[in-house]
Formats: sequence, C-alpha cells, structure tokens
Amino acid sequence: MIIKRFALTPFQQNTRVVSCVATRAAICIDPGEASSEIVEYINANELRLQAIALTHGHLDHVGGTRPLRGSFPDAEIILHRDDEDLYYGLPQQPLFMGIQPHQMESMGLKYDEPLLLTRNWEHGETYALGDLRFEVRHCPGHTRGHVIFAELSQKKVFVGDCLFEGSIGRTDLPGGSSEQLLRSITDQILSLDDDFVVYSGHGRETTVGRERLANPFLNGAYESGIGRFI
Ligand SMILES: [Fe+2]
Repeated sequence: MIIKRFALTPFQQNTRVVSCVATRAAICIDPGEASSEIVEYINANELRLQAIALTHGHLDHVGGTRPLRGSFPDAEIILHRDDEDLYYGLPQQPLFMGIQPHQMESMGLKYDEPLLLTRNWEHGETYALGDLRFEVRHCPGHTRGHVIFAELSQKKVFVGDCLFEGSIGRTDLPGGSSEQLLRSITDQILSLDDDFVVYSGHGRETTVGRERLANPFLNGAYESGIGRFI
C-alpha cells in the first residue's frame, strides 16, 4: 500500500491517495478541496483512480469531490447513506458552521451543486482495491453516517474524524453524539490490534495501542478529571 497525504482546506484536512503497489489501483479518501497537486500525483504515478472514498459528509472532507471526478470520470463516489443530507447540502454547510456568506468565497468554501453519489457504503462490506481489502465499518457519532476503512492484513485504519492523536472528533454539529462516538470508537477501532496504524482526518498518524493507553477520552482520565492535567 502506498499512502500519499495532502493537507487541504483552511481546516488542514488530511486528504489521502491510497494505492495498491502491484496493480496501481487507487482511491482518494476525502478530497477536501480542488487540488491540481492530487491530479498530477495520480497521473505522474500512472494510478487508476477507481473511487472517491468518503468517510463522512463534512465540507472539509467532500469539498473536492466534484473537481476530482471531473479529472477522473470513471471514479465511483461512495458515502454512507446516513450522511447524504450533509453531502447534498454541501453549499449550505458553511452556514451551520458559523461561516457567513460573505466569507465563503475568500475561505475557498463556495461550492457548486454536488455530483450524484454512485452508491453507499454498507457496514461490514469488504472493499477491494487491487490486492488490498478494506473492511468498511460504520462509526456514527461525529456524523450519523461516518465510516472507517480498515485494511486488516497491513494493519492500517483510516478513521476520518472519529479519532485523533490524543483526542476524538467533535460532536456538537448536526448529527453528532458523544455517547455514540465513544461506543463506535470502542467497538470498531479499539477492537483492532494495538499495532494498527491510525490515519486521521486531521493531525498526525498514531496507533491503536497509543490511543488506547494515552488518549484521555478513552483511558478514563478525562472522565475522572485527571485528563485536564495531562
Ligand atoms: Fe468532520
């Protein structure tokens, strides 16, 4: 597996192009905004983009879907059905994040009408990318339709905005629930082995083991009050 990261949007979202070494098949996970760098990377490495794989429907994760699909018209666009309202409401999303209409253009957050999804993720499905196999796991809590992609043989998991190094996703936006998020993280991420590498939607990479041990939202420290001091 080759993973190439591009930090995009004012939110420094980690867009990634993930490809199979043997077959050159690739997916782009969460294209945050239009990026000629991504198009050039795919073309220069002779990759075949088979899908735009969306973890969830927030603007900093889906904003580049339309322009990227324009360059690679054969690519599928896949999202869980429970985030379709966010995805199709993309042009209005900045408003409910508190961004005013006159700020949208200067922040690069003005969007055309989203393209139709080609299909939805199903919890438990196995997504084939050349020789790689990703298990798709529904992880609601940050949004209703958030999914993660776990490649079990290479022990890598792409978690979007569910889990970050030392933190967890925000739950104050529409569809968010902290109880649900903690349950999703426990059931779907912490059930993986400690040596799984965790690729988050923002910030640095981490591992399941490190977060299990040191993440104050997951090790009980926050709940007991100690989390405020470490
Ligand atoms: Fe998000």
